[in-house]
Amino acid sequence: MNLSLKHLTKKFGEKTVLNDVSCSLGEIRSLAIIGPSGGGKSTLIRLIAGLIPPSSGTIQLDKQTVLNDEAFLIEYRKKLGMVFQAYNLFPHLTAIENVMLPLIHVHHIPKETARKQAKECLQRFQLEEHEDKLPAHLSGGQQQRVAIARAIASESKYLLFDEPTSALDPELTGEVLDMINELRQEGKEFIVVTHEMGFAKNACDYVVFIADGKIIEHGASQSLFSDPQTTELQSFLSRILEWN
Ligand SMILES: Nc1ncnc2c1ncn2[C@@H]1O[C@H](COP(=O)(O)OP(=O)(O)O)[C@@H](O)[C@H]1O
Ligand SMILES: [Mg+2]
Repeated sequence: MNLSLKHLTKKFGEKTVLNDVSCSLGEIRSLAIIGPSGGGKSTLIRLIAGLIPPSSGTIQLDKQTVLNDEAFLIEYRKKLGMVFQAYNLFPHLTAIENVMLPLIHVHHIPKETARKQAKECLQRFQLEEHEDKLPAHLSGGQQQRVAIARAIASESKYLLFDEPTSALDPELTGEVLDMINELRQEGKEFIVVTHEMGFAKNACDYVVFIADGKIIEHGASQSLFSDPQTTELQSFLSRILEWN
């Protein structure tokens, strides 16, 4: 993917959450967005997803400007599969019904075809034994894997994750990160907001570090972690890695 941000600003009321952010990332396959809490990471990924409009400035994905126009956004959002920190699944629907829902309502696939596609997708990720269970009867890790399977079943071009493992117990984090890494190895491109620095370093090509509504530093992941240039990133990494 090719992502470019130009003078991107987002305000909520009086509060400026992203402040005149510009950066051109060229051709990358996987991007990690890291930084302290409240810095604007979720706001940035939601802007990229076309879920909220910028206050000013532009986003270009694959050289196409994201327009604040409903007809454009309906098509644009079909290209993206978004997975959030938690509560991704509809609680009253089974795993397979959750996967089928966007196939039927967003992609207008007939119900029986959607069921077949959803089944294949759950099988592919070893989730078939859970297909008739409600989310409440799945572990957090299984729920997130179903949510990722749903994004894949919809054949979205890119996956966007906002802290997909932050609500999980540590032993469940690995199974979700493994699944994302498996998709990466198959060539699926994604953007992930994460506090898992090992994952950002080893499973993402490129990293953007955001704090206080600004991109403080960005670069190829290996060099950014081994040789952080700014005091902000140095102190962020030392704080987050202190107990590792
Ligand atoms: N819908 C909103 N209305 C008002 N303030 C918001 C809204 N969404 C986020 N914020 C504020 O914007 C800042 C950045 O939030 P966020 O993008 O969620 O940061 P991060 O994901 O890095 O923790 C925070 O101070 C948050 O309180
Ligand atoms: Mg966030």
